[in-house]
Amino acid sequence: MLDKIKETKDYLAPALEGETPVAAIILGTGLGALAAEIIVRCVIPYASIPHFPVPTVEGHAGCWITGTLDGRDIIAMQGRFHFYEGYSMQEVTFPVRVMQALGARVLIVSNAAGGVNPLFRAGDLMIITDHVNLFPEHPLRGQLPGITGARFPSMINAYSPRLIALAEQASRRSGTPTRGGVYAGMQGPSFETPAECRWLRAAGVDAVGMSTVPEVIVARHAGMECFGISVITNNLLHDDASHEEVRQVGQRACSRVTSIVRELLHEL
Ligand code: HPA
Repeated sequence: MLDKIKETKDYLAPALEGETPVAAIILGTGLGALAAEIIVRCVIPYASIPHFPVPTVEGHAGCWITGTLDGRDIIAMQGRFHFYEGYSMQEVTFPVRVMQALGARVLIVSNAAGGVNPLFRAGDLMIITDHVNLFPEHPLRGQLPGITGARFPSMINAYSPRLIALAEQASRRSGTPTRGGVYAGMQGPSFETPAECRWLRAAGVDAVGMSTVPEVIVARHAGMECFGISVITNNLLHDDASHEEVRQVGQRACSRVTSIVRELLHEL
């Protein structure tokens, strides 16, 4: 595993032209438009990156982007690997290991999520304060040859209180309201049943989605500071979610999510 990470890192390192990225960003739902705002150094299709998972039919082609945002060096992943596409958890999280190996100390992720908090509405933004891991496979299960990191890593403050506070400030400054809440990661790809929603709510969950948790676990294991933001694309208690609705609400939220993340990056 370490050899693979090193080979991929060595392949991608020249794209940084000697700079150390202040952050690595996984451009999930809500952050797609951020890619257009990056002053790009390099765009590398996933298909040409050694040891990267091979994109599936459902997955978008995907690109690794290096460049600057407001003068700060970043790495961005346009397109992520979901467990429901059939990847193992080690495949889903492999890019995070590479980001860390390239020197990124901060991981920023966005996603689409269904609200299970009755106050949440489609289009709301939720800063993730904590998660519930409901995936059936764990990215740190088994031997991780050559990888350093605790066998039993703490998940207290997995979502950095410092970054949450900075994002809340950014949200107030820019007049972009946000909520805070607990994100549950489930494997999908079916949306949740009404009974599952009631169960999630009873467990203290505010929103549910099919990503982010594995990446954040691995980033914490690797010592990175994490920030996550969800676009609430539907409320499972009130709406019957459709993929198209999720996509449209996600797209409409883009400029708000982008402004918060951009402001957050300024403060790093
Ligand atoms: N459930 C799970 N994932 C989601 C949802 C949902 O309702 N909406 C967007 N992503």
